[in-house]
Amino acid sequence: MKTEKSVAPSTNGSHARLSESTGPKVQLSGSTGPKVQEVLETETRPVPAVFTQESATDLGTEGIPVERYLSREIHELEVTKVWRKTWQMVCREEEIPSPGDHIVYEIVNDSFLIVRTDDGEIKALTNACLHRGRRLRAEGGCVPNFRCPFHGMTWSLEGKFASNPSTWDFPQIDPGAFSLPQARVATWGGWVFINMDKNAPPLEEYLEGLPEHFAHRPLEDRYKAGHIAKVIPANWKVVQEAFMESFHLIATHPQLIGSVADESSQYDVWPGKRHISRTITVAGYASPHITGSDDDAVMANYLMNRQYYGQTVEGRDLVAGENVKPADGQTPRQFIAGMLREQLEPLLGAEQAASATDCELLDPIYYSVFPNFAPWMAAGPSIAYRFRPNGDDHESTIFDVYLLSPVPPGQERPAPAEIHWLESDQPWTDAVELGRLGPVLNQDDNNIPEVQRGMKALARFGRGLTVSRYQESRIRHFHQTLVEYLESE
Ligand code: FES
Ligand SMILES: [Fe+2]
Repeated sequence: MKTEKSVAPSTNGSHARLSESTGPKVQLSGSTGPKVQEVLETETRPVPAVFTQESATDLGTEGIPVERYLSREIHELEVTKVWRKTWQMVCREEEIPSPGDHIVYEIVNDSFLIVRTDDGEIKALTNACLHRGRRLRAEGGCVPNFRCPFHGMTWSLEGKFASNPSTWDFPQIDPGAFSLPQARVATWGGWVFINMDKNAPPLEEYLEGLPEHFAHRPLEDRYKAGHIAKVIPANWKVVQEAFMESFHLIATHPQLIGSVADESSQYDVWPGKRHISRTITVAGYASPHITGSDDDAVMANYLMNRQYYGQTVEGRDLVAGENVKPADGQTPRQFIAGMLREQLEPLLGAEQAASATDCELLDPIYYSVFPNFAPWMAAGPSIAYRFRPNGDDHESTIFDVYLLSPVPPGQERPAPAEIHWLESDQPWTDAVELGRLGPVLNQDDNNIPEVQRGMKALARFGRGLTVSRYQESRIRHFHQTLVEYLESE
């Protein structure tokens, strides 16, 4: 079976119209594949306006210095100028539902107790005793108060000084002024964020309109169905940047490009927005790098390689049966979307499933929030990533993968999954809950430590990384923002 591509190449007028409103023009692609906005025009459901907010901004072609990933000084500058100044995602609200529930969040040498108080508020208390400095808690749990294991000084869940076994011997302590220092706390989408800078803008402003993008797929309605974490031997930016473009699919994930059109990606960097960016990559079409693919091959490839994790429908089920074929005039993408709507109905409910666009059902849609949080958007189960330095080691990263699932209609919200730590030498496929994402992450992981090593060999030449103008524009945008923070007063 072979169908003409229903989407015209980039030379038609519709694409130019869609990118007119923002920033200087750059060549979006030299590719012959369909463009995201053209594919969206074939949707049979109303497309949320946020998907048509395409914005290609020319950020130039300058190299990125390798020192930025290797230098200890830059790491230390990042501590004071980035980690202590920005809003960081620390956990899900559902992880601390009741008074006394807390997690320990650490970023380089800063440590916080993210705790639910008796009033139901969330606080971020410095996780260090004000007596002789012992860390109050090594890990999360549920406690009535924070009692230091060393000499027993105690603080309330709100961080107020509560008791001291030898009050008589500390005339210098004013109990009213001996509270645990706190970071600011705010929430969005069921995620808890903290900020150590009292002068930073509020989270709502910092997110630069991101909540509007997710308004029709509220992440707060989802639960944490899986959480896998692993230490990766590379700078946190190397790990993060491995996911900011789809250019690497052709060499790193060649099994995917039979149905994910790598070059048919839209990279959105919005003028005036320095904390957020987005990639949308068209699926249900073969990559323009593949010649001679037909509809059967595209469907077979997609169904074999869906990136959704285990709890969604196994692809093989979708191709079972002789009669399972696209109707006349239907593209593989439209056909697969139709089957996914049916398959996801028990999870989403009839109305949500029926209104889901092909884009939200098939395409990888990846947002980044500066400095290190990346929520994906999907109609069905979705993913989020977080990348942070592993303690004070700037050449090692803790990479968290969150699996979010809608709560099926009429069912109670399940308890959030416990964190599943993988050893550094363990493959992602050992986390069976990742399903088909596991082998893909193994492939990414195969590059990341090698990038860190290779950059050291490049360092003596004094040349920067040669980053592409459009496909890697989000990396460039991230670095632009990073430098602004590093250079700020
Ligand atoms: S160090 Fe905490 S009570 Fe002494
Ligand atoms: Fe990848």
